[in-house]
Amino acid sequence: MAAHEHVAILDLGSQYTQLIARRTRELGVYSEILSHKTTAEELKKRPGIKGVILSGGPASVYWKDSPRVDEKVFSCGLPVLGICYGMQLAANALGGKVIPGEKREFGHATIDIRHEDVLLAGLARSLSENPDALRVWMSHGDKVAGLPADKFDTLATTPNCEYAAVKHKNLSFWGVQFHPEVRHTSSGMLVLKNFLFNACGCRGDWQMSGFIDEQCDKIRNQVGKGHVICGLSGGVDSSVVAALIAKAIPGQLTCIMVDNGLLRSGEVEGVRKAFEGHFKVKLVVADAAKRFLDKLAGITDPDEKRKIIGEIFIRVFEAEARKVKGADFLAQGTLYPDVIESVAAHGGPTAMIKRHHNVGGLPEDMKFELVEPLRYLFKDEVREVGREIGLPEHLVWRQPFPGPGLAVRCLGDITEEKLSLLRRADVIVQEEVEKAGMTRRLWQAFAVLLPVKSIGVMGDERTHEFTCALRAVESVDGMTADWARLDYDLLRNISNRIINEVRGFNRVVYDISSKPPATIEWE
Ligand code: XMP
Repeated sequence: MAAHEHVAILDLGSQYTQLIARRTRELGVYSEILSHKTTAEELKKRPGIKGVILSGGPASVYWKDSPRVDEKVFSCGLPVLGICYGMQLAANALGGKVIPGEKREFGHATIDIRHEDVLLAGLARSLSENPDALRVWMSHGDKVAGLPADKFDTLATTPNCEYAAVKHKNLSFWGVQFHPEVRHTSSGMLVLKNFLFNACGCRGDWQMSGFIDEQCDKIRNQVGKGHVICGLSGGVDSSVVAALIAKAIPGQLTCIMVDNGLLRSGEVEGVRKAFEGHFKVKLVVADAAKRFLDKLAGITDPDEKRKIIGEIFIRVFEAEARKVKGADFLAQGTLYPDVIESVAAHGGPTAMIKRHHNVGGLPEDMKFELVEPLRYLFKDEVREVGREIGLPEHLVWRQPFPGPGLAVRCLGDITEEKLSLLRRADVIVQEEVEKAGMTRRLWQAFAVLLPVKSIGVMGDERTHEFTCALRAVESVDGMTADWARLDYDLLRNISNRIINEVRGFNRVVYDISSKPPATIEWE
């Protein structure tokens, strides 16, 4: 992808590095996150490079081992934007002084613009439409305390920060102490846009339709006349991968879906309809429900359940894959956050490579070449590709569903009866959440079966039935999550319907725990 017009983001350990990449892409400019050790020479050699952004980071420039960048980056001719620590590094390298602030500045500040220059162009003007246009988000302990006036222009200040935005007089360097990538910086997108389009001269050619064509060419080149296997889970990532490959090389793809008996209601049918019906893909559904459920019978330990499911999955997938003659490629829905090798401020590279359960664990003699067309995309971009390529809405907007399926939502031992109750309750949750227009606003909403029986009364009858817990969370990446403040009417509808329609539940409770310390799934 590096041949594409793009900006490189040198990662100095900020929690917001990925956010910078997402924001530039939202503005139509492709971006890649690279190690801060990437030299100016290496950057210059990248075809399509238009500029460089230095991320923030938790270190101090005066620490001995703090992450640095090659100082030639500032004079290599590429426009450079330093954010927070990135700006402090530049100040330090270009004759300025960085000192610990008297107090940490964290939160909102309002900038006073001295010169708009290219970077802040249009901010003051936008005040008539946006009274918050000058509000920025600060998060720093150190501050730039002195910059040589013959080398730098101050573009903006705040009462606490003399150099809120600066520009080097002779070099293509801009620096901001605030974080334009964070939504709390009201004009952050305008600042980034100014940098990308006016300083770097980007055209903004990053569009998903173009991406689809590029990836189709790439898949054709990689696979040639070969055959690809793709594990379909019903989730958006694997669905988009399969749809892309089906578009690129129709007839050279076999999808395998393992029905482990732990799927939600209608899941297999939905995938069949989309892939066999719409995309004309050869789909093998391995019905292994009995094998999974037999082995899970009586098992209550969450780890044990996961282990059993993972192991059987691999064996079933392997057996089906072996039946596909001549397949030497395995397609995976690996996404960009999974492959970024971020060089953390301390302790060297933190590689975050997710092991997908459908490949890790396959035997040695099954050597597949991987096809990973989404490895440079963020989740929202994957959904956009899905939409462009004609995937049905219910697959594009599907909320994440764990590999071990309903097993981690059916606490205690798993039986067909409990799974059936859970499926019926889950359908109600999905329907009501959708009706309330909340599906896309929630990271996940689902039902959990608690093996706790309590007393209820229905008509004149006393009941002694299970408890259904409702879990609904908001999250950006599933790493942290907050319980969703669902509307009372929505909660009431879900509760009424589950208790009235699902014989076996007489009580519904709402989970109000955030992650951490709780997890999203219950097991
Ligand atoms: P937890 O429960 O760890 O879940 O807070 C975080 C996110 O990951 C999903 N999840 C899984 N996804 N295989 C998956 O593909 C798994 O084994 C698995 N376990 C949890 C969960 O649904 C949530 O979105």
